[in-house]
Amino acid sequence: MTIRIDGKRMAGDLTARIAAETEALATEHGITPGLAVVIVGEDPASQVYVRNKQKTAQNCGFKSIKHALPADVSQDTVLRLIGDLNADPSIHGILVQLPLPKQLDETLVTQAIDPAKDVDGFHYVNVGKLAAGHTADAFVPCTPAGCMLMIEQQLGNDLSGKSAIVIGRSNIVGKPMAALLLAANATVTIAHSRTADLPAITREADIVVAAVGRPNMVGKEWLKPGAVVIDVGINRIEVEEDGETRSRLTGDVDYEEAAEVAGAVTPVPGGVGPMTITMLMANTLRAARLASGLGD
Ligand code: GUN
Repeated sequence: MTIRIDGKRMAGDLTARIAAETEALATEHGITPGLAVVIVGEDPASQVYVRNKQKTAQNCGFKSIKHALPADVSQDTVLRLIGDLNADPSIHGILVQLPLPKQLDETLVTQAIDPAKDVDGFHYVNVGKLAAGHTADAFVPCTPAGCMLMIEQQLGNDLSGKSAIVIGRSNIVGKPMAALLLAANATVTIAHSRTADLPAITREADIVVAAVGRPNMVGKEWLKPGAVVIDVGINRIEVEEDGETRSRLTGDVDYEEAAEVAGAVTPVPGGVGPMTITMLMANTLRAARLASGLGD
């Protein structure tokens, strides 16, 4: 029987633990973690993500503030806001929702965030720590951090002797995911759109992380029996149901097919997505503790 990895439930359990730790932090030390989310423009998907992040932050007992800026905002205004948030002692975590409109330079903006408040893990100080294997010291990007917890739940902390394939080489998911798997002693392949014979390579892997944005790409012929399959894809597709066209979310993995072969699979929705948001809360709580000299 294939295990359905219940990200929603894992995230709920972890959020409850973070809320309890937050309450203790307030009672014992008078500290409330503060998360500032910056959103530019009206992208509907980004609006939904930001709303969910804010809701979860409030559920954890954090101070949660949102700065919504118009789509035509200047780079200087964004950088000034980040400077103010960097200097604000009540804010421990800063997140600028991506993508940004074209007039803004994503690199300049993400690198302006104080690395100690970089709960997205996009600042090169944190990228470098992770790449150097100092995972415990770095703020790790939230999606791969959540994926890693789900992999550890299935296979334990030490992935010695396991082969892993990460499909996708983005800075937000693919590269940090590969670094985490390597730090846990897995033998890691990073595959991407230029990789030859992707199904054959994927079929060798004990762990498959799919993060490409191609609906239902990974089918049963791609998978080694018993593999742990983590689906990072969130694709909106149109399906015909009862003579009507409906919009539905689907991952990069064909769940029904994967479930015939794999040992464990994450569903979409209800897999990686909820874990990503919870890891943002974990990073923010950690940032608040570290800023107050309390250690992890
Ligand atoms: N847009 C899509 N994923 C992310 C993420 O993890 N962080 C931020 N800031 N923006 C995103």
